[in-house]
Amino acid sequence: MPGCPSPVTAYAPSCPSSDAPYAPARVASARVSAPPSLLDPGVERDPHPLYRTLRGDFPLVYDEPFGAWLISRYADVRAALADPRLAAPSPGPAAPARREDGTHGAYRALVSSALGGRAAAALAAGVERTAYVLARRLASRQEADLVAEFCQWLPAAAVVAALGLPYEDTARVHAWCRTGLDHLGGHRPALDAYLRPHIVRRRAHPGDDLLSALCTARPGGRPLPDEAVTDLAVTVLGAVGETTARALASFLANLLDHAGQLELIRARPELTGGAWAESLRRDPPLQIVPRRALEPIGPIPEGATVACLLGSAGRDPARFADPDRYDAFRPDPGELAYGSGRHFCLGAPLARLTAEGGLRALLAVLPDLRRAPGPRPRAEGLISRSPRTLPVCPR
Ligand code: HEM
Repeated sequence: MPGCPSPVTAYAPSCPSSDAPYAPARVASARVSAPPSLLDPGVERDPHPLYRTLRGDFPLVYDEPFGAWLISRYADVRAALADPRLAAPSPGPAAPARREDGTHGAYRALVSSALGGRAAAALAAGVERTAYVLARRLASRQEADLVAEFCQWLPAAAVVAALGLPYEDTARVHAWCRTGLDHLGGHRPALDAYLRPHIVRRRAHPGDDLLSALCTARPGGRPLPDEAVTDLAVTVLGAVGETTARALASFLANLLDHAGQLELIRARPELTGGAWAESLRRDPPLQIVPRRALEPIGPIPEGATVACLLGSAGRDPARFADPDRYDAFRPDPGELAYGSGRHFCLGAPLARLTAEGGLRALLAVLPDLRRAPGPRPRAEGLISRSPRTLPVCPR
């Protein structure tokens, strides 16, 4: 295939001065002949042996079956995510916040300011209220599935609260969200129709929520057209999609597997944020973040896809001591799970308060919460990853 040289070749960036840190000059050993692939059998079940091989022997390699260049080391992934020569794939016109053009910064400023300040306080209250409602529903049960009955609902309720939409619409929004990041394709017309009357109302009577902030914003002195407001709302809904639900599932699974650490967090709730960051390090919901090369970068041809392996970077022993161990009190778990650079996640604060509010409610309402007896469901998924179920005994 033109433009795809053999997997392990020496390369240097086109401009020596910007020697990309992920130059394969460090591709020392030829211990392993054919490069492995993300599509090899068993990888979806457990990608970590492959990640170890990639970090060790193939820090930059072309994965022919997967169709992308793989970057696996922490420092390289961090650099690649922020590298202006590597663009976030444009998920189509419906996501202005992800564009790589001059509007990107303005949209980011709009969304992050709307999610901060007064909106953040309203959000925290909305999340907490929902978390208690969901936890109380489990209180009388012998057994329950925390994924289906808590993790998947709370983020949807959080984003409904963030947008200032009616709480009773959570189920509908939840169904739309479930399609995941940026690909709301099939649900788009229904979502547009659903949001339109809310936008009209917010323009007339703005509140403290994200939709009102978008409806009253005047970038460049002019109000945002309805289509742009809808696009941004859809970006936020798509971004929440599965991501936060999966992160929450891994977070609760990690804590339930470490009863001693959970006890300490129960006694000192201010440690929850660190425990959340550590879970995102060890088990990020998004394992792979794609980029497209805007120009040739060493062996990477222009237009090629680059897969930044967040799942591997978080377990890089060059960055984290004993990386496979979950340690809620790890001094510096980093936050690469949210990306890095110009596309760093705009929802990181909302995700964190969802996790903090969710755990607080679970510990308060279900003090004896523990794993249900029987086999422990493993994490699943290649691109996004978490346990699909989390059977527990609520009391
Ligand atoms: C634990 C939960 C979450 C994780 C792990 C996560 C992860 C990420 C990552 C890795 C990116 C960067 C993608 C890239 O560089 O191409 C991103 C971007 C984004 N996230 Fe999140 N996200 C989470 C929750 C949320 C929430 C709750 C929202 C909604 C408020 C949100 C909104 C966004 C938006 C709008 C972007 C695009 C930013 C841009 O392109 O400039 N995310 N997220």
